[in-house]
Amino acid sequence: MAEVSYRNASRLYPGSPPVRAVDRLDLTVADGEFLVLVGPSGSGKSTALRMLAGLEDVDEGAIHIDERDITDTPAKDRDIAMVFQSYALYPHMTVAENMSFALKLKGESKASIADRVRQAAELLDLTAYLDRKPKALSGGQRQRVAMGRAIVREPSVFLMDEPLSNLDAKLRVETRANIASLQDRLSTTTIYVTHDQIEAMTMGHRVAVLKDGTLQQCDTPRNLYERPTNAFVAGFIGSPAMNLKTVTVVDDGARLDGLSVPLSRDTLAAAGGTLTLGVRPESLRLAGSGEDGAAMTVELVEELGADAYVHGTVRVGEHSERFVVRADGRTPPKLGETVTVAITSPDEVHAFHSETGLRLPAAG
Ligand SMILES: Nc1ncnc2c1ncn2[C@@H]1O[C@H](COP(=O)(O)OP(=O)(O)OP(=O)(O)O)[C@@H](O)[C@H]1O
Ligand SMILES: [Mg+2]
Repeated sequence: MAEVSYRNASRLYPGSPPVRAVDRLDLTVADGEFLVLVGPSGSGKSTALRMLAGLEDVDEGAIHIDERDITDTPAKDRDIAMVFQSYALYPHMTVAENMSFALKLKGESKASIADRVRQAAELLDLTAYLDRKPKALSGGQRQRVAMGRAIVREPSVFLMDEPLSNLDAKLRVETRANIASLQDRLSTTTIYVTHDQIEAMTMGHRVAVLKDGTLQQCDTPRNLYERPTNAFVAGFIGSPAMNLKTVTVVDDGARLDGLSVPLSRDTLAAAGGTLTLGVRPESLRLAGSGEDGAAMTVELVEELGADAYVHGTVRVGEHSERFVVRADGRTPPKLGETVTVAITSPDEVHAFHSETGLRLPAAG
């Protein structure tokens, strides 16, 4: 059981100027929590994890586990187990030997090792494979052995760095559900790194979004989705991505071709002359021909069965801007057709400052 807290922790790589791979990270992970770190490539996710594991220096600030400052504690004394993307099992050892190796090094008794390996194998559905070598296992089974190696150590914190990226799409979906339910049963504080926002949203109790080494927002998946703190988070979380367009403010709102988007006085006052409007594809719909809306020329239709995503261009002031609209999958429009786009509900419109990108007070 452990609470982890990064206290203004930074990692600087040498260079001129030095690279702030992780920049003053302030983040507390509660005891038993499953926290997902997500962000684009190079945003500092692995570095943040490696700082906690003791594989990377903390150049500024500190990291605590419970009330203990572990900033300078050697990696082996931190009681942390890490599962990497390339989980490199020992090829000459059986599954059971792979899982027990770290415990043997620690000098645990034979009986205790056998017991823990048996329990972990049951939990991971590996009992039938304990005597096999890794080369005789599927990718998903190997991944579970890597998890098993971490579990038998009964650490107070699990760290996982993109542990599913070597698996195919179907196995990823299955395994991500298994990892989430396993974490739920063990209730071990877990930090899980991914660049896949669907993985982040489905697995995490909370999700921390990083960009350029800086924490943007840490919140429940729902809050991230419904109240992104800035335009970056708004565009990063959600698939297909939110439509984000910089528009000129008119009288009491914004205009997209024939579509007027009402905005509150507070929003308009905070915006200045322009703002970045954010509307998710599912907050837009194709309107009937008599209705008000923006005229969109259809350029691409992605049919997914129940839904279709309609991509096209709308005139916004002097420019054409690309939009994605969710539509009924049974009656999608045709390429080249002009459709009318309306907003399903004005309170699903997001507004951000056009320069700082920060969320403006509620729209609508
Ligand atoms: N040993 C190093 N020396 C110098 N710079 C480094 C080193 N390791 C990482 N970096 C830089 O630090 C930044 C963060 O890297 P990090 O590996 O933490 O990113 P990441 O979010 O895990 O990315 P990915 O999704 O690609 O794994 C990047 O700009 C990277 O180039
Ligand atoms: Mg990484």
